[in-house]
Amino acid sequence: MPDRPTLPRLRAAVQECRGCELYRDATQGVMGDGDPDADLVLLGEQPGDQEDRAGAPFVGPAGHVLDDALADAGIAPERVFRTNVVKHFRWSGTREKRRIHHSPKQQHVAACRPWLDAELRLLRPQGVVLLGGTAGKALYGASFKVGECRGRRLAWPEDRPVDAPPAWVLATTHPSAVLRARDQRQETYDGLVADLRLAVGWLSR
Ligand code: URA
Repeated sequence: MPDRPTLPRLRAAVQECRGCELYRDATQGVMGDGDPDADLVLLGEQPGDQEDRAGAPFVGPAGHVLDDALADAGIAPERVFRTNVVKHFRWSGTREKRRIHHSPKQQHVAACRPWLDAELRLLRPQGVVLLGGTAGKALYGASFKVGECRGRRLAWPEDRPVDAPPAWVLATTHPSAVLRARDQRQETYDGLVADLRLAVGWLSR
């Protein structure tokens, strides 16, 4: 971890991270991306196949869903900073040349915590949107369920000290759930958009 972190320094330093074994099979570490002055941080799980190659979060299929949902919620892309709980892609095996994603384990989330904390200390966002269960569990513990907390303003967890804690946290579905939902794709997408609308409404201008 750099002595005096900045976002570019974190991006460089994460390439040397050996806090867990995930670096071995990943192309690179992927820190967050977006406006450093963003009011809103969108927190996903981990980079996927395309993010691992590109070195940027949410540039693959789930990222396209997220882009559409942000646009439909009336959120300008420059108002958000996108990042992930885990900075290296966890995968094993391939299907049609795509590497198959495996959700990170608790030990990977714990090992990556200093990187996320460092980003949040620098960004000092007003609000954080948790995209899916991994992000929720990373902040609130293993029993966290998105479905039980959706649509509510959650307080920043006390065991996660930052100088300027976000005023609220909102949990919603991960955009990849829209891609996986066969029968209820539109409904799942509409739910994501509705939650993002709530989030933007909570931002003070
Ligand atoms: N899914 C995530 O959670 N993060 C990404 O960056 C891409 C897909």
